[in-house]
Amino acid sequence: TRVVVLAGGISHERDISLRSGRRVADSLAEHGVSVELRDPDANLLQYLRDSRPDVIWPALHGASGEDGALRGLLEFIGIPFVGSRSDAARLAWDKPTAKVIAARAGVPTPKSITLTRDAFRELGASSVLESIADELPIPVVVKPAQGGSAQGVTLVEDIADLPRAMVDAYTYCDVALIEQKIVGTEIAIGIIDTGAGPTALPAVEIEPLSGVYSFEARYNAGETRFYTPARLAQDVTDRAAAAAISAHTALGLRHLSRVDLIVDRAGTPWFLEANVLPGLTETSLLPQALEAAGHDLGWIYSALAQAAIK
Ligand code: DAL
Ligand code: MG
Repeated sequence: TRVVVLAGGISHERDISLRSGRRVADSLAEHGVSVELRDPDANLLQYLRDSRPDVIWPALHGASGEDGALRGLLEFIGIPFVGSRSDAARLAWDKPTAKVIAARAGVPTPKSITLTRDAFRELGASSVLESIADELPIPVVVKPAQGGSAQGVTLVEDIADLPRAMVDAYTYCDVALIEQKIVGTEIAIGIIDTGAGPTALPAVEIEPLSGVYSFEARYNAGETRFYTPARLAQDVTDRAAAAAISAHTALGLRHLSRVDLIVDRAGTPWFLEANVLPGLTETSLLPQALEAAGHDLGWIYSALAQAAIK
């Protein structure tokens, strides 16, 4: 089997993707798989036509990698690929849409408001502030509706900081999501399906030393403490795992995903988002969960490639 790992691309998460892709390619190579690493550019179609790989392993984060565009292209030209199909990717990539789908599947998600950049401009910061203060208690988290790696994400603890947080979010996306901050334990649950149905990996508990799981806290070793499995009661962990699988399934995701949740003081897991192509770098959560569960990364990544070919 010849595998082409795609990494890099043109999204805001290009550098992270290069790190994920390198690690996936190395893991596959160590496992004895014939693998090539490729940074997709305008010559991608020509390259794929000439090289005819058996399967693509897209290690692309952010727009084009996770929004379904590149996946749609691969579907169009008929090359199998690891991970979710374009239609499911499109739904999961858009956080407000994913929240509606998760909620409909019975997984609670924090109350939120979405606001376009144009609406924000038209209404003006002060009236936006007022209406949001009426609907959502502070603290809130402001995020680009589409994005990753916490880019453009701000925890707002003082309502006066809200306009600035929104402007930050709009640098990444035309739509901002303002979401109630649930107080509790932040966890991530990796989902893997190599053909026998989705299974949940041990929950990874995230404790950023700065208090916020920012871009820096994600990718600099030592800035976040991780606990795998999470320091939660077994019944709470089981409930979170079931919620993660429900969200993954409701969104129609395939092969792998990572569902991010906050477990509140009462033990209820709240859905934040499902990542179509979770980070696979040295400090990322899914590889930590795989290793904690005793899996060899090369073996799993290869099994996912085989599942894609079937
Ligand atoms: N968006 C980053 C890569 C993650 O979900 O890990
Ligand atoms: Mg994400």
